[in-house]
Amino acid sequence: MHQDYFPPGIVVLTGAGISKESGIDTFRDPDGLWNRVNLEDVATLEGWHRDKKKVLDFYNEARGLFRAAQVAPNAAHDALARLEAKYGGDVTIVTQNIDPLHEMAGSKNVIHMHGREGEVRCMKCGTVFPSDADLSPQSVCPKCGTVGELRPNIVWFGEQPMHLDEIYAALDKCGLFIAIGTSGQVYPAAGFVLHVRRRPRVRTVELNLEPTENQPLFEEHIYGPATRIVPPYVERLLAEGWKPGGW
Ligand code: APR
Repeated sequence: MHQDYFPPGIVVLTGAGISKESGIDTFRDPDGLWNRVNLEDVATLEGWHRDKKKVLDFYNEARGLFRAAQVAPNAAHDALARLEAKYGGDVTIVTQNIDPLHEMAGSKNVIHMHGREGEVRCMKCGTVFPSDADLSPQSVCPKCGTVGELRPNIVWFGEQPMHLDEIYAALDKCGLFIAIGTSGQVYPAAGFVLHVRRRPRVRTVELNLEPTENQPLFEEHIYGPATRIVPPYVERLLAEGWKPGGW
């Protein structure tokens, strides 16, 4: 069987916890964003229709902080880039993060399921284009000319995450599923571990600051700050390697 002779794919699901030590706040930790900001106001379609200026100001400010922080990838992002470069099979990073830190670390195969910073979408014509400019309800779509329909290309609550076909295709081929720095509270990402476990012989590992509610769904667990636990875990994977019949 194919899986017996070739290294199977690895899917790494990452969340806000992997970027925390690069200076980007998580969402649900005590100091997290959703403990300071009402997510219904700024991260839902209803919030957008209620008050576009409020939503756009929030993202304008976030973008400014993001730039000012001059964020850089940390040792955990670097380790995942090394895994992709050195492992013999496919490594797919499925990130819920909108930051570009995986790409900045050198990872090539990165899927941003919740959208990405630096892209704008027109709600009228659907065009997506790169832009770092601040938006306002007066912004004009460069494609269709509509006023006030430009928004960050970020998935809000109640919206369909992006690239799901590609993600499930990678999940359906993987032999190892690793979740890093995600609380496992937002679906469908939180359900990926159960999805892969339907197939025999898929190994599942949770790496996080602390156990999450999804902890019982993973076979293996490593807890601590991402910069401390991800690099040695990646080195261990590369050193042990995959052998026909298992890891
Ligand atoms: N190293 C590893 N894990 C960490 C670290 C760290 N230094 N710091 C925090 N964590 C863990 C927390 O313990 C928590 O379990 O990271 C997790 C972050 O969880 P959330 O804040 O819920 O972030 P995430 O899971 O990425 O959120 C999913 O929710 O609001 C939406 O769209 C947003 O993509 C986001 C989605």
